[in-house]
Amino acid sequence: QESWKVALFGDGAVGKTAIAVKFTRGTFLETYDPTIEDSYRVHASFQGKPAFLEIVDTAGQDDYATLRDQWLHSDSFSEGDAYILVYAVSSRKSFMRVKAMEKAIIRARSKSVHVYPVSILVGNKYDLTDQAGGREVGAQEAYELAQQFGCHFIETSAKSGYNIQKMFETLVVALRNR
Ligand code: GTP
Repeated sequence: QESWKVALFGDGAVGKTAIAVKFTRGTFLETYDPTIEDSYRVHASFQGKPAFLEIVDTAGQDDYATLRDQWLHSDSFSEGDAYILVYAVSSRKSFMRVKAMEKAIIRARSKSVHVYPVSILVGNKYDLTDQAGGREVGAQEAYELAQQFGCHFIETSAKSGYNIQKMFETLVVALRNR
């Protein structure tokens, strides 16, 4: 059976843990408890074919920047098949952070002998765009950034479940066609 290792990156509180929990357990995580590092294992079906995913949830908070750097330089990261770069559509600051993180990932991966990973830029908290002033990052500019990165782009909501399955499916389909 296929088995893929994917990692979630992004600023603190953008919803990385909530995305992993929604996808693996189907429930929405209301409380915010900063992640240090966690991993979720799940059997899922994409295009009618089973796949096993290991989802690594990394630390977003600046307090854990050293840990994140250690992770970026570990075998565990360099052997990853895909990475998910998350920002919140309601936070311009988190969108700016994604650019720096992408640079750090590229730098770390450039030393790796492994095949180039597949990646996706994810604008989470889409449900907040219903509220006036809820959106700080437009879909068009994010799409353009994804084009610069040479990666996929999608908006999601871990709260409503919008595009969560589709986001993982996009990654798995890209991995299958690689
Ligand atoms: P770190 O572990 O610090 O890196 O944070 P994180 O990116 O894992 O964020 P987490 O999943 O813990 O979510 C932070 C807060 O945002 C929590 O209170 C979540 O309930 C909330 N949240 C996550 N996803 C969504 C979403 O799609 N919509 C809304 N409205 N809130 C969300």
